[in-house]
Order: sequence, then structure tokens, then C-alpha cells
Amino acid sequence: MADPLENLLAELEQFGKDNDGSTVDRPRKMLNITRDTGEFLAVLVRATLARRVLEIGTSNGYSTLWLASAARAIGGSVTTVEKSQYKIGLATTNFARSGLASYISQVHDEAGRLLERAADSAFDMIFLDSERPEYPGWWPNLRRVLRPGGLLVVDNATSHPVEIAPFIALVKADAEFVTSLVPVGNGEFLAVKSAK
Ligand SMILES: C[S@@+](CC[C@H](N)C(=O)[O-])C[C@H]1O[C@@H](n2cnc3c(N)ncnc32)[C@H](O)[C@@H]1O
Repeated sequence: MADPLENLLAELEQFGKDNDGSTVDRPRKMLNITRDTGEFLAVLVRATLARRVLEIGTSNGYSTLWLASAARAIGGSVTTVEKSQYKIGLATTNFARSGLASYISQVHDEAGRLLERAADSAFDMIFLDSERPEYPGWWPNLRRVLRPGGLLVVDNATSHPVEIAPFIALVKADAEFVTSLVPVGNGEFLAVKSAK
């Protein structure tokens, strides 16, 4: 990874720590993934050649930068959706500073609506990092817009096990998916869709 990007990532890590430690207003918290999760996501994008990546939950774009840097390396790009106007603004600035803006498509919308209008098999990989109680309702569209052989990655699988349990149960009960819980960061739940 180039040094300017590394510097920006380090700056955002400090910003997230300071900001989230000093505000009690949840919509104003960044709630970024951990650095080791960023490294893990980058490896997944490169290893699976995921050129069409969807991220649900941009915040200020910390995780997007990890995904986009990896996508750029394999000729891909990232679509990221966020409903907060405030966070869209922060992310736009960070993407411009990163030099990765041309590999990122920002969508200001409610994620359920984006999923409704997305085409079948539109994405090779989906990173889900949003409001966990919404996930079960999104599952029919999540599985539809993921291509055969595509990978779903869900954050907070070990940090919020009770909240995420209904969603994990749904995915595990789906015969088209093979799953694994990976103890990186806040816990990454992986589900790969059958290739046929
Ligand atoms: C945990 S934060 C994302 C953190 C980000 N992935 C990172 O690691 O830098 C979750 C984000 O999802 C957004 N969000 C929550 N529900 C949403 C929805 N239904 N549609 C779009 N964005 C949503 C929140 O505003 C918040 O910014």
C-alpha cells in the first residue's frame, strides 16, 4: 500500500478512536472496522478476484478504502451505500484525499432500497456493516444480488452475537451457502454462494 494512503488510514483510525470516545450520539460515531479486519477484507478481495464489491454502511469510508485499494489492484471497484448525509460528506472528502475516488461509487440511500433495485448477480462480494436488525429482511435480496460463487462478509459476528444470531441462522439454513466464522477484529461471518 502506498504511503499517502497508509498515512490517511492511520489518521482515520485516530479520528475514529477520538471521535467515538468523545460522543454519546450514536449517529455521530464512526464505528469503523478494526485494522486487521481491513487487512482481511483486502486479502479476500484479491484472493477471490472480487471486482464488483458492494459495501453496506460507508460511515466516513475507512473500510471502503481497504476494499477500494484491493479492488484497484485487480481492476475492480466498490459501490458503497450510506444513509447519513453527514457521513456521506466525510467519506467524500476522505475518498478525494485517498486518490481512490475513481474506484468508488458512493450511493446516498437506505440500503434496503439499493438492494431492491440491484440486478441479480450484480456483485462478486458484499461487505455488510450496518444496522444488524435489518439483515434478516435484506437476506432475499442479498442472496439474489450476490453472483454464484460470490462471497458475503458480515462484521460484528462475535462482538454482537445475540443481535446477529437470527441472520446467521437464516444464512446457515440456506443450502446454497457454505459458511465460516473467522475470529478477526469484531468477528467476520463469511458465506460463499454455491457456484452453480
Ligand atoms: C458500523 S458503521 C459502518 C462503518 C464502516 N463500514 C467502516 O468500517 O468504516 C454503519 C453505518 O451504516 C449506516 N447505516 C445504518 N443503517 C443503514 C441503512 N439502512 N442504509 C444505509 N446505511 C445505513 C450508518 O449510518 C453507519 O454510518
